Amino acid sequence: MNNEKISVALFGFGCVGQGLYDVLNHSEVLQANIARIGVKDPKKQRSVDASLITYDKDDILNRQDLDVVVEMITDTDEAYAIAKTAMNNGMNVVSASKKMLATYFAELFKVQEDTGKALIYEGAAGGSIPIIRTLEEYYDNELLGSLRGILNGTTNYILTRMELENKDYGDVLKDAQASGFAEADPWLDVAGFDTMYKTILLSVHAFGVVLKPEDVLTLGIQNISFDDIRYAREKGLRIKLIGSAAKSADKFRVYVMPRFISKEDELFNILYEYNAIEVEGAFSCKQSFVGKGAGSHPTGSAVLSDISALTYNYKYAYKKLNKLRALNGGRIAGNELLDKKFTTRVYIRFGDKEELRDLDIQHVVEEYRSPKVNFIIADVGFESLYKHKGNKDSKLFICEC
Ligand SMILES: NC(=O)c1ccc[n+]([C@@H]2O[C@H](COP(=O)([O-])OP(=O)(O)OC[C@H]3O[C@@H](n4cnc5c(N)ncnc54)[C@H](OP(=O)(O)O)[C@@H]3O)[C@@H](O)[C@H]2O)c1
Repeated sequence: MNNEKISVALFGFGCVGQGLYDVLNHSEVLQANIARIGVKDPKKQRSVDASLITYDKDDILNRQDLDVVVEMITDTDEAYAIAKTAMNNGMNVVSASKKMLATYFAELFKVQEDTGKALIYEGAAGGSIPIIRTLEEYYDNELLGSLRGILNGTTNYILTRMELENKDYGDVLKDAQASGFAEADPWLDVAGFDTMYKTILLSVHAFGVVLKPEDVLTLGIQNISFDDIRYAREKGLRIKLIGSAAKSADKFRVYVMPRFISKEDELFNILYEYNAIEVEGAFSCKQSFVGKGAGSHPTGSAVLSDISALTYNYKYAYKKLNKLRALNGGRIAGNELLDKKFTTRVYIRFGDKEELRDLDIQHVVEEYRSPKVNFIIADVGFESLYKHKGNKDSKLFICEC
């Protein structure tokens, strides 16, 4: 492929698709011809010529003249089918769909190997922050120890407004939904799943380990109240939803959990919809990457950068994944390398002590009870926290100390 004028088809013309369309039309460097745009709803008004739009994915996938298919849709299984078929039909693929990529990573890795086609997805984690290629290329020879980040703009926006405006969760969430910072159904964001999909993708490129969404502990902010924010503030701390991945001997600790962050921490001042990722290497020490983690144009610009990378035949070499695979008898390393056997110190706010019964509480450091708020700070067996992952019946707010 060369950069003369590449031929691109888009799937999805929502927030990201339209953002890409705008940035492509403003790009002076990348000359791209948008051949077709695949969408779902025939009743929707479109801001582009009707001849560009199709509702039949085969109108795009069966073409012979396309260089790149850009997948930016919200239907996970359909996005997987599109990415897989496009590569099998000889096209390179750019995707922004973190849930699809994290859910079907192993299958899509195999399709890339079988077809030799590229699947790249900078926009899928960290929005406009160029983190995936950085982890893949720059840190290739570096002994990376850990990464952690604020990876979800919606939850960071909610946490920031709760703290700065002394507001409770429900009020801020409603405002965030009204102003477009939160989805009508915010569950994937507030329960931590969006952060988890991104953490899985970052772990692939940081360490070469491929984890499945069901394996990764994911606790969110859906049960937070202003009492928790007040507690943090009294201690000079802020609460942030953190996705983290760290080496632990020959295994990895990968999980998503709210965490108290101190003033000295780089992540303390990451506010509103901003995202940040901090990487720690053996020789480079800590380095941080900050930027808008979502939104139409920021994500569109990351997708544009991927399309541009394809013009010089870029593809992920997956050096760390392949290295770990060689050490793992030829099998892609996954769940067996996840370290779940440790204790972690957490703050748990609860209503009734009965709610704590399924946690492996090993040592209570502090206990506070009042007619309004009850909490403990305790060392808890990490594995027992999984019972609260995506559990709509759980009322606990759990935050790592
Ligand atoms: N929004 C962000 O800031 C952001 C950032 C990074 C990554 N992402 C990811 O990017 C993807 C798109 O997100 P978005 O925010 O742009 O969503 P969106 O605004 O809701 O738009 C979704 C688009 O997908 C199309 N679509 C849905 N199901 C389809 C199907 N079965 N076949 C064809 N088209 C279908 C929709 O078609 P209609 O127009 O016909 O409804 C719409 O154009 C998601 O995977 C999301 O996780 C989003």
